[in-house]
Amino acid sequence: MGDDQVCEAAVLVIGAGPAGLYAAQELAERGAEVVLLNRDIRPGGLAEYGIYHSKHKTKAVLRAQFQKILQNPRIRYLGNVVVGRGGDVTLDQLRGLGFAAIVVAVGAQGTKWLGLPGEQLRGVYHAKDLIYYYNGLPPYSERTYEIGRRVAVIGVGNVMADITHWLVCDLKVDEVIAVARRGPAEVKFTRQELTYFAANLDTTALGEEIRRVSDRMRAVGQDPDVARDFILAALSGAAERAADTRVSFRFLSSPTRVLGDAEGRVCGLEVEDTELVLDETGDTRAKRLGTTHVLDVDTVVFCIGDRVSDELGLPVQWFSFVKNPTPAYPVGDISYEAYDPDACASIDGVFVVGWARSASEGQVALARKDARGCAEAVTAYIATVPRRDAAAPCAALMELIAGLNKPIVTAEDVLRLARIEAARAESCGDPGFRFTSNADMLAAIASDEG
Ligand SMILES: Cc1cc2nc3c(=O)[nH]c(=O)nc-3n(C[C@H](O)[C@H](O)[C@H](O)COP(=O)(O)OP(=O)(O)OC[C@H]3O[C@@H](n4cnc5c(N)ncnc54)[C@H](O)[C@@H]3O)c2cc1C
Ligand SMILES: NC(=O)c1ccc[n+]([C@@H]2O[C@H](COP(=O)([O-])OP(=O)(O)OC[C@H]3O[C@@H](n4cnc5c(N)ncnc54)[C@H](OP(=O)(O)O)[C@@H]3O)[C@@H](O)[C@H]2O)c1
Repeated sequence: MGDDQVCEAAVLVIGAGPAGLYAAQELAERGAEVVLLNRDIRPGGLAEYGIYHSKHKTKAVLRAQFQKILQNPRIRYLGNVVVGRGGDVTLDQLRGLGFAAIVVAVGAQGTKWLGLPGEQLRGVYHAKDLIYYYNGLPPYSERTYEIGRRVAVIGVGNVMADITHWLVCDLKVDEVIAVARRGPAEVKFTRQELTYFAANLDTTALGEEIRRVSDRMRAVGQDPDVARDFILAALSGAAERAADTRVSFRFLSSPTRVLGDAEGRVCGLEVEDTELVLDETGDTRAKRLGTTHVLDVDTVVFCIGDRVSDELGLPVQWFSFVKNPTPAYPVGDISYEAYDPDACASIDGVFVVGWARSASEGQVALARKDARGCAEAVTAYIATVPRRDAAAPCAALMELIAGLNKPIVTAEDVLRLARIEAARAESCGDPGFRFTSNADMLAAIASDEG
């Protein structure tokens, strides 16, 4: 199938994060009539509610792109609609409406826990909840999170870096310890993300920590100096020190238990030493050694990636929705076809893209590339099925949505909200100003402003 193939049909895209928005754009450009359902009032997903709140320029560029997509006459945006069990409409209901294809682009909304004793204690959080909180996504923005003074952040990817950025620059906590089950050579954060709190790195402690694990690194052919230099390179572009927070790393340490006090609050994190074992691909994995230590912390934040939600109604495996291992419409080596492993068959006409296809993988640019691939697979699929009326499924969906008795947000509403917020941002001098409750957003949309 060529990239320029035309697909004149009605396609439903569920989820208006980067993957859903770019997929909608790509499909509309190929001639499809696209309806875009979104849980949140605002489009953008993690580009809106994940990217760090002070990255105003990046967010503004993406918002402008997304607003342009919503203005495509072939795309109809319907926000404030939750799809799935316990939501406003189920996937099965939507499948019954006659769309030529359904693209599931709902991201990874589930929470990945390790199942450790003590995970239910007060002061244990998953990064996603805190990220949604500080980026103003309801209902997280309206909840209270008890962050103490000494925080263990588990995982060493860019999400850990964002959370540490927040703990240092916004909350100004006393201490952050980043806990990694593998070593300094396997950190996943980028140098740029480290620069925001590099001035708070305890460099003496970093040197000692790398010396502590250097024999275990050399045992698998790693050079401790190279790993140390990568981390220290962030110092050259370090942002101004915003607080006295001490940031350190604890490598080759796998969390085993969160300890609680008499009030049910976190009072420590037990970790077990690990060593590195080379696998058949040359990558390393962490092997536990049996010896444990307790880190003196009062808060634990898991920054270990997300998983998709079971509530959507598609089978889940390895944190993501299941894809057909032998797809009929592969693009490169990627399968976009939702799959029922019990029936050993594709779920006809349902495709997955972005973090719904591969949870916690990559940045916005990757979601965009994935959306292009997905649109290609959908186009190829539609070419093989009998031609259907494009208007009827859209009309049926509008009827279903009208019966929900809740405010549905259109593209015009999104633009109006953006104008109102821009005016407020200007008048209060806060470029990041946005409404953080659904009630306030809906009231603004219904107001005379903008
Ligand atoms: C903390 C953090 C910071 C990041 N910072 C950057 C960065 O600086 N630069 C960068 O390039 N990338 C960044 N990323 C990565 C980037 O945000 C993701 O690659 C991208 O957002 C994934 O897009 P997606 O559309 O697959 O999922 P998401 O962005 O999660 O979008 C999912 C969409 O689906 C909707 N949805 C969810 N459930 C339902 C449902 N049941 N019914 C209907 N709609 C639903 C949501 O409302 C949302 O709009 C960051 C990620 C995180 C977690
Ligand atoms: N500014 C930005 O551009 C930005 C910001 C945030 C996120 N993002 C992107 O979003 C994606 C997701 O980021 P992420 O940080 O969530 O994921 P990530 O980069 O995969 O990092 C996850 C971390 O969690 C650890 N981990 C996973 N499972 C674990 C377990 N069971 N026990 C202990 N540790 C575990 C991983 O260790 P192992 O390596 O040992 O598995 C790794 O250190 C990435 O592509 C990232 O680049 C980008």
